[in-house]
Amino acid sequence: MTRNPEKLPIGFALNGDHIDVEVAPHELLIDVLRDRLGLTGTKKSCDVEICGACTVLVEGLPASSCTTLAADVDGKAVTTIEGVSCGGKPGPVQQAFIDCGAIQCGFCTPGMVMVTTALIRLHPKPKDEQIKHFLRGNICRCTGYVKIIEGVKSLA
Ligand code: FES
Ligand code: FES
Repeated sequence: MTRNPEKLPIGFALNGDHIDVEVAPHELLIDVLRDRLGLTGTKKSCDVEICGACTVLVEGLPASSCTTLAADVDGKAVTTIEGVSCGGKPGPVQQAFIDCGAIQCGFCTPGMVMVTTALIRLHPKPKDEQIKHFLRGNICRCTGYVKIIEGVKSLA
């Protein structure tokens, strides 16, 4: 295979599976995930790291995929919303959000679920301040956050 000299070959673990891909130096992780790898669960909204809709986990910690260069995840582990479901069914965090009525339009939900996944892993019984701290970068225009916080607490 002839390599495009303007592209960088990178390899990373995506939802547990190793993938190799060539990316342009300026290419953003969200565009690689959505447009090239077909993982459209990660949402794109503000594009400038304000809304949290595009949050994925990089090495287990939340990262805005709209401001992360794809080249920067070379050799790392990336988890998207597709990686936290259980065999096509909702995973525990998704189910908690469903059960607590924490989803209305659902646009913010993938980002909220990813942040909550990281939070629960680090703090299995999070205090209110820890929940608010973790969710502070994720905007929801529908729910008023009460149900979302209830959903997070129901996991403890
Ligand atoms: S789309 Fe990335 S933070 Fe809003
Ligand atoms: S459920 Fe609609 S933006 Fe959060």
